[in-house]
Amino acid sequence: MGATVVSPTFLSAYLVVVVCLVCSLKEGYALGRKTTVEKSHTTTIHVSSLLPSSICSSATKALDKKSSLQVVHKHGPCSQLHQDKANIPTHAQILLQDEARVKSIRSKLAKNLGRSTNLDQTDAANIPANDGSVVGTGNYVVTVGLGTPKKDLTLIFDTGSDITWTQCLPCARSCYKQQDQIFDPSLSSTYSNISCTSPTCSSLTSATGNTPGCSSTACVYGIQYGDSSFSVGIFAKEKLTLTPTDVFDDFLFGCGQNNQGLFGRAAGLIGLGRDKLSLTSQTAVKYKKFFSYCLPSSSSSTGFLSFGYGGVSKSVNFTTLSTISQSSSFYGINIIGISVGGQKLPISASVFTAGGAIIDSGTVITRLPPTAYSALRSEFRKLMSQYPMAQPLSILDTCYDFTNFSSVNVPDISFTFSGSIEVPIDVTGVLYVNSISQVCLAFAGNGDDTDVGIFGNTQQKTLQVVYDGAGGKLGFATGGCT
Ligand SMILES: *[C@@H]1O[C@H](CO)[C@@H](O)[C@H](O)[C@H]1NC(C)=O
Ligand SMILES: *[C@@H]1O[C@H](CO)[C@@H](O)[C@H](O)[C@H]1NC(C)=O
Ligand SMILES: *[C@@H]1O[C@H](CO)[C@@H](O)[C@H](O)[C@H]1NC(C)=O
Repeated sequence: MGATVVSPTFLSAYLVVVVCLVCSLKEGYALGRKTTVEKSHTTTIHVSSLLPSSICSSATKALDKKSSLQVVHKHGPCSQLHQDKANIPTHAQILLQDEARVKSIRSKLAKNLGRSTNLDQTDAANIPANDGSVVGTGNYVVTVGLGTPKKDLTLIFDTGSDITWTQCLPCARSCYKQQDQIFDPSLSSTYSNISCTSPTCSSLTSATGNTPGCSSTACVYGIQYGDSSFSVGIFAKEKLTLTPTDVFDDFLFGCGQNNQGLFGRAAGLIGLGRDKLSLTSQTAVKYKKFFSYCLPSSSSSTGFLSFGYGGVSKSVNFTTLSTISQSSSFYGINIIGISVGGQKLPISASVFTAGGAIIDSGTVITRLPPTAYSALRSEFRKLMSQYPMAQPLSILDTCYDFTNFSSVNVPDISFTFSGSIEVPIDVTGVLYVNSISQVCLAFAGNGDDTDVGIFGNTQQKTLQVVYDGAGGKLGFATGGCT
């Protein structure tokens, strides 16, 4: 029976937040390889290397260790999700979706602070129309096994949300098109529903921001993401196989009967946030809330997502994780400075503390307090003054036309986090390439210095990012993947 379904209006009444969906890159503009690193604190890149690559060059170095999954870009040649080219969003659409995600993160934080939120129809109206023919953004995906016998599912992973879900038969209301076969709980011997009277069901409120519902006796979850994507269905438990040696019985997940949005052809999402229903928390006995990942420099290369201490680089430098607001699922960090071309920008510390900051795997472009962004932009423009500027691209206001150049010198950018650790941003994280004639500085300013800053996934590329949830630390090492 089609009992399941809670209407999406139930969801839109709440503003859940977060998440993902939005990310990254349309295919393939592999930002290229560095040729020389000069003393002048710039990196020289060949303009031709900015062009798309259509071949997957798999770097499996990090996968020698146990408890590691390969991370690929949803739309690149390394992904199994063969998306129609026509359905891949443009960069302008991706950036608009990114803005929707950022608004929803702010809204969720405001809610946790006990303020009422204003994210409502006004914002929803700015979101690009999604007519159900999947738009499909380019998040990072991994493949895991669910059920007995196990079925492989390719899921987006997201540090900005908690609940893990996948589309499930019978798709009582709606399922979007996905690459893998849709999970059928009736074919699994280890599946069971969570009862709607159980405390486990009630714990959905903090994980999703929505009060759970009831279908017959089954617990019903609903989660809506910032870009108007949502999933509603039965809250259940099942055997989860991360790797052949890492198998978890009774893993709590959402069996989605009504799913819509910007998931591309991924089968759902893995929530790696800090709430107790996240995968991180549910596997804490084994991994101590410790995981790390590396996001590849382009869609034609691969990264990794690893659970537990194994394989973490010796050269990781750690900063302290903070809580950005009460009961938040976000990983709070403290940015204390930014350098451009080897020079520390003159930004007072209070600019960064006013709104605080988080790290997020699902936000594409790093958001800074406007005071910090304008200092970054003016120094970058000064050092790039030999190149002709191009039209802005959505939220990116500092773009260049490299048509007449065979190579360009890009100023190095690094971030300093509390504990005085300096993290160099890879050149692939400094520039966002729409085309050779429109290559943009990949940072944006918030509306106000009191808005939360976000360290986004473009800037995390090639870094090994280490989350030590139990130790309250976040680490970075360079050269995590290519
Ligand atoms: C789980 O709950 C749904 C909705 O009430 C029901 O249709 C389904 O048969 C239940 N499945 C199991 C295994 O109990
Ligand atoms: C590139 O060079 C051509 C020929 O000199 C010139 O006409 C054109 O304006 C230049 N384009 C840019 C973006 O500078
Ligand atoms: C870590 O710290 C050391 C010593 O300050 C420095 O040499 C190294 O470059 C740092 N690595 C990163 C990724 O910040």
